[in-house]
Amino acid sequence: MSEIITVNHISYKYTDEQERNALNDVSFTIAKGEWVAIIGPNGSGKSTLAKTINGLIEPMSGDVTAGNLTLNEKNIWSIREMVGMVFQNPDNQFVGSTVQDDVAFGLENLGVPRDDMVDRVRDALDKVNMLEFAEREPARLSGGQKQRVAIAGIVALRPDIMILDEATSMLDPKGRQEVLRTVKEVKEKENLSVISITHDIDEAAAANRIIVMKAGELIKEGTPEEIFSYGDQLIEMGLDLPFPEKLKSSLKEIGISVPTEYLTEEGMVDWLWTYGLKK
Ligand SMILES: Nc1ncnc2c1ncn2[C@@H]1O[C@H](COP(=O)(O)OP(=O)(O)OP(=O)(O)O)[C@@H](O)[C@H]1O
Ligand SMILES: [Mg+2]
Repeated sequence: MSEIITVNHISYKYTDEQERNALNDVSFTIAKGEWVAIIGPNGSGKSTLAKTINGLIEPMSGDVTAGNLTLNEKNIWSIREMVGMVFQNPDNQFVGSTVQDDVAFGLENLGVPRDDMVDRVRDALDKVNMLEFAEREPARLSGGQKQRVAIAGIVALRPDIMILDEATSMLDPKGRQEVLRTVKEVKEKENLSVISITHDIDEAAAANRIIVMKAGELIKEGTPEEIFSYGDQLIEMGLDLPFPEKLKSSLKEIGISVPTEYLTEEGMVDWLWTYGLKK
């Protein structure tokens, strides 16, 4: 497999007053077409890592290679064309007064000719199933629809890599699913590599590989299956577990021996009933 991103021993600190590095000697690679989820508790360095990959932050030591370019001040714009980022808050990502203007914005900046631009905007909106909303005002869309438009804005630029930094965290479950489905579809159609930073277990499960960050360091790396086998420890790794798993974990903390198998909410209620009866 050919590598599209190589992160090579990078370290970073925001200010000298900080006692520890925001990133400390982090290394990994991402293959072309691969989907990697990055998980970790708040403040573990996930967003900082994403920012070093598209050049918003320059690491103090180590380097980042995207495609065949090792990131430096001169090629930063080429890297940004290659790496698109979707952020957490859908409301902070709009610049256009209509959905199509918004998607066109990045293309205008690149100086794409008008006819070509119209085609690319329509094509991108079609890929995220938002073509019928082309003339709408972005402010009037649902959170999930807004994030799909943000994804279209990136797809229109034809990047190789898409980074989602908690792009689904402000959405309701339906919006999350909608965006996750869109990411899957777009990834397949465009042969994109995806980095998704998330606390959501379904989003992490969609990845080919999961990287776990803690206090600025990469502490674990594995398939979703391998990482999910850590059970309870996933909460410390920053994942929001489904409610029954969280409940099990809290019960365990107070010394109640809980079933080890996965239970649905209903299953958990049944188990609690029988547990109560046995006492
Ligand atoms: N602009 C900044 N200035 C100073 N320190 C910062 C800045 N941004 C982040 N930090 C610090 O760097 C460390 C890593 O932060 P980062 O935002 O990368 O964490 P994260 O894993 O993305 O967390 P979250 O899950 O809350 O988004 C934290 O200790 C944080 O306080
Ligand atoms: Mg973050």
